[in-house]
Formats: sequence, C-alpha cells, structure tokens
Amino acid sequence: LTVRAGSYADELVKTAKTIASPGRGILAMDESNATCGKRLASIGLENTEANRQAYRTLLVTVPGLGNYVSGAILFEETLYQSTVDGKKMVDVLVEQKVVPGIKVDKGLVPLAGSNDESWCQGLDGLASRSAAYYQQGARFAKWRTVVSIPNGPSALAVKEAAWGLARYAAISQENGLVPIVEPEILLDENNVMFEGILLKPSMVTPGAECKDRATPKQVAEYTLKLLHRRIPPAVPGIMFLSGGQSEVEATLNLNAMNQSPTPWHVSFSYARALQNTCLKTWGGRPENVQAAQETLLIRAKANSLAQLGKYTG
Ligand code: 13P
Repeated sequence: LTVRAGSYADELVKTAKTIASPGRGILAMDESNATCGKRLASIGLENTEANRQAYRTLLVTVPGLGNYVSGAILFEETLYQSTVDGKKMVDVLVEQKVVPGIKVDKGLVPLAGSNDESWCQGLDGLASRSAAYYQQGARFAKWRTVVSIPNGPSALAVKEAAWGLARYAAISQENGLVPIVEPEILLDENNVMFEGILLKPSMVTPGAECKDRATPKQVAEYTLKLLHRRIPPAVPGIMFLSGGQSEVEATLNLNAMNQSPTPWHVSFSYARALQNTCLKTWGGRPENVQAAQETLLIRAKANSLAQLGKYTG
C-alpha cells in the first residue's frame, strides 16, 4: 500500500522547519560500516560492532547536544542499535531534541557507458525501507550522489544523478521522511514539495590540491551566487557538507555565508568537521569519553554561532 505524499505534507514541512531552526544544524554520523572502520583504524581500533556502538553512544549522549544540533543522520545499523547502556539510540536523540535521520542510498557503482563515472544505487525497495525507517523513528533521509570532475560530469551522469535524487525525494516524502537532497535536480518533474526538502550541497572551494587558498568571504560569495541562481526560496534549508575542510575552515566559511540575509536557513550537516577532534580525543578509551564529548560540543557551538553569523573564533 502506497501512502500519498499529501498525507504527510504538514508533517514534512514541520520536520524541515525544525531541522532548519536558528542556531542549529545537522550532525552527520552516517558513516557506512566500511567508512566507520577507516575512522576507527585511525585511532587504532578494530572495526567491530561493539566499537562502533561505543563511538556512536559517545556522540548521541553529548550533554546539551540539542542546543546546537537539530538532526543526526544515522547509518542503518545505528537506527536499530542501542547505546552501551541498552537504550535505543533513537530514543536518546529524541530526548536530546535531535531529530533522527537515516542514510538511505546504497552507495556508488560504475555507470556503464560513461567516462569512468558513477551512479548511486538504492531505489529498488526504497519505499518499503523508508516506511520501516519511519516506524523506527526516522523523520528525515539522506541520499548522496556524486558527479565527478575531471572525468565528467557527462550529460548522462548528470541526468542519472538528478533523476535518482528526484525519485528518492518523492519516495521519501510519500513515506513521511524529509529528503536531504544534493544539487541540480529535476524535482519539478517528480512532484517533490520544495517546502519539505533540505538541500545538502558542497561549498564552492578550491580543489584539495590547489595551492591558492580562498578566503571565507570568497567561498561565501561564489557559493551564494550559485545558490541564488538555482535554489527556490521555498526550500527551507541549505545544510552544507564539510567535504574534507578542516574544522575551523568549515566554521569560518559557514559564518561568512551568514553575514547577509538569505531566503533559506544556511547551516551545517558536517561529519568530519564536527567529529575529527572528538574521535582523536576519545582514542577508544572510556576515560576520555567526557573530554571527547566536550570537544564535539565546542565544534557544535562554534557552528551554531556561524549559523547565526556571529562566530568570532
Ligand atoms: P563530511 O562533512 O565529512 O564531508 O560528510 C558529509 C556527509 O555527507 C556525511 O553525511
């Protein structure tokens, strides 16, 4: 049985507004088991379910998290997981006033007939998975697709990425989940309600190997120029990914973006730029949990101030 988008319309708008609320943004903690394994390896830990559970427990139980963080994106494992104290992670988040979200894409695979580009899997069975995730407490979703440079982006890859995102967005909304969507999307062809989505683009920054660094003001100017040209004011929030920027860089760039009024809530949906110091401080040791949680809160608060355009370093 398919639920029509209309039946969730009010709730979707409300969820999107809650996530895009002043001074708050998203904690992305939806690393796949493989990616989480890489993070754990960086502090000398094995990629076991127990270690992933310990780390994710640390993240969701940061005291006061909800003051700065409105939503947390989870990997499927965490949506069904309990903390080390046996409480559902989802319930802990809700008590913290943080909306639980879920990564629903199934990752990238080679796009046949393209120039070594990729496409994103996950549409098969997405409606039933989304309904189950809603039952489990998720209220928003994320789908990450990639168009690559310099191999592409070919017209084929762009079309595939846009179509996949738009289908995902429509399916999410029909099942009560606010879709976090990445850029350049043929949404109007798929009856996606702009008021009930959030956009998660990367910022316009120099390439990782580029020697000339850009100032936060330049990053903000280029990024906002593009967004103003393309993104309808009906979209409630632009939640940037950090994409390998340093923690401070990501905060400064967000702060620069919030120096002038914008039609949308401009905020963060960072994984690495919120977690890097926290993970290192923890190092897998129970005695470091509190110190690690404090570092996460420092980054969350800095980005909260940057969302308000009031970060001073
Ligand atoms: P980063 O902020 O580390 O780039 O991760 C973003 C993301 O998409 C995770 O949900």
